[in-house]
Amino acid sequence: MAEIITIANRKGGVGKTTTTLNLAYSLKELGKKVLVIDLDPQANLTRCFGLENADDNIKTIGHLLMAELEEERYLLKEYITVYDDINIIPSSIYLSVAEAQMRMETGSERILSDITELLQEQYDYILVDTSPSLNILTINALCTADSVLIVADTQIFAIVGISELLKTGGF
Ligand SMILES: Nc1ncnc2c1ncn2[C@@H]1O[C@H](COP(=O)(O)OP(=O)(O)OP(=O)(O)O)[C@@H](O)[C@H]1O
Ligand SMILES: [Mg+2]
Repeated sequence: MAEIITIANRKGGVGKTTTTLNLAYSLKELGKKVLVIDLDPQANLTRCFGLENADDNIKTIGHLLMAELEEERYLLKEYITVYDDINIIPSSIYLSVAEAQMRMETGSERILSDITELLQEQYDYILVDTSPSLNILTINALCTADSVLIVADTQIFAIVGISELLKTGGF
């Protein structure tokens, strides 16, 4: 049963994506089965895995969330790409479309949980990289997490981001 770790801070540029990438590789080196989910429409993590044309060629987390939202039938494995023995569900700018749709639906804070529930048996760790925002996507990432890794640098605004996140999560 996978432990789900969400990497978050509302402040941008503090090292969330870099931490997710390095954590994924470190866990893989320890022999763990790792899935990373890029839940940021900036798709920086996706690019780290060399999936630069994710919006054109590959099914992304945006498409997956939309399929789940619309209660479509889908094959989960079609959304998962393997790179360096790490599994990734990539992102693209299309995730912004899914975000706008999810914002309008009641109860949409648990859509990602419905997806991760189907994946938990296959992995030791599922890492979720988030955008610098407390939008419905990040709320989904917080709802599905067993633990939250809050990344911050030592600047005051990044520290403020920590307390805002703690209030949001009801920790
Ligand atoms: N430990 C570190 N020391 C120095 N620079 C770092 C460190 N970690 C990350 N960086 C650099 O900081 C910048 C921002 O990192 P990163 O993209 O991981 O942040 P982020 O929090 O994911 O940003 P965003 O909020 O836009 O998603 C990058 O240029 C990265 O190379
Ligand atoms: Mg990032």
